Amino acid sequence: MKLAIFGATGLCGKNLVEVSVNEGYEVKALVRNPAKLDDIKHEKLQVVKSDIFDVDFVAKELEGCDAILSCLGAVPTWRWKTELLYSTSIKAITDAARKAGVKRVICLTGARQVPDPQKREWWLIRWFDWAIMRPIMDDMIRMESHLKDNCQDLDYTVLRPTGFCKTEPWTGEAVVIPDIYFTPEDSGWIPYKKVVLMMLEALKENKWVHGHIYCSMPNGFDKVTK
Ligand SMILES: NC(=O)c1ccc[n+]([C@@H]2O[C@H](COP(=O)([O-])OP(=O)(O)OC[C@H]3O[C@@H](n4cnc5c(N)ncnc54)[C@H](OP(=O)(O)O)[C@@H]3O)[C@@H](O)[C@H]2O)c1
Repeated sequence: MKLAIFGATGLCGKNLVEVSVNEGYEVKALVRNPAKLDDIKHEKLQVVKSDIFDVDFVAKELEGCDAILSCLGAVPTWRWKTELLYSTSIKAITDAARKAGVKRVICLTGARQVPDPQKREWWLIRWFDWAIMRPIMDDMIRMESHLKDNCQDLDYTVLRPTGFCKTEPWTGEAVVIPDIYFTPEDSGWIPYKKVVLMMLEALKENKWVHGHIYCSMPNGFDKVTK
């Protein structure tokens, strides 16, 4: 099976590449900075320098791929700025997917896109989301709306992880709840390596198709980096 991976040079994406090739998948990484993957040498990995917004170019590269996995993400910014990476990239990727005949698309947004109406987030997190994360959250909402409104012909899955941590082990049961943005009943953290495993779980088991899936780890989960 051949996977096209976007955002392959990031924290999550690089781990996804490593796990995927080690599990025997062929991987084509479509990236803007190929040098960032120089340290992963594997016969099943092909790295292609790409403008991810060039639909014709991407469609050609997607030919022969069985699924698209995207870990694209933007850098947090101040609330008065506008972020468009999520919405513009998903439009380009889904347009290219259709052109190339690839139906399976698995991608990431995040939890807390909409503030909890009962204001149950920790005040610092609530302030952080208000001041720094709002442009990203707004664009995640646009991205998910695009998938929901315009992509029912594709088998898409979107995972909404809570904050990433590095804790090991990352194989315990995650809290998985469709269609929510927040619950106070979990830790609010998830190892990024667990998110990678969940993306591959979605692929292998054809799970969560057309799902917008909140994912976190249970309360009591030790998020301290080991
Ligand atoms: N970090 C968290 O705590 C957290 C929590 C919940 C959800 N998420 C979401 O999970 C996803 C992955 O997060 P992450 O921490 O792994 O992200 P990351 O390390 O910042 O990686 C982002 C990736 O997107 C690529 N990218 C950004 N802008 C691009 C552009 N214009 N053209 C091409 N590639 C571009 C980056 O490429 P370059 O390497 O070339 O810059 C990189 O590969 C994101 O959607 C993020 O919002 C993150």
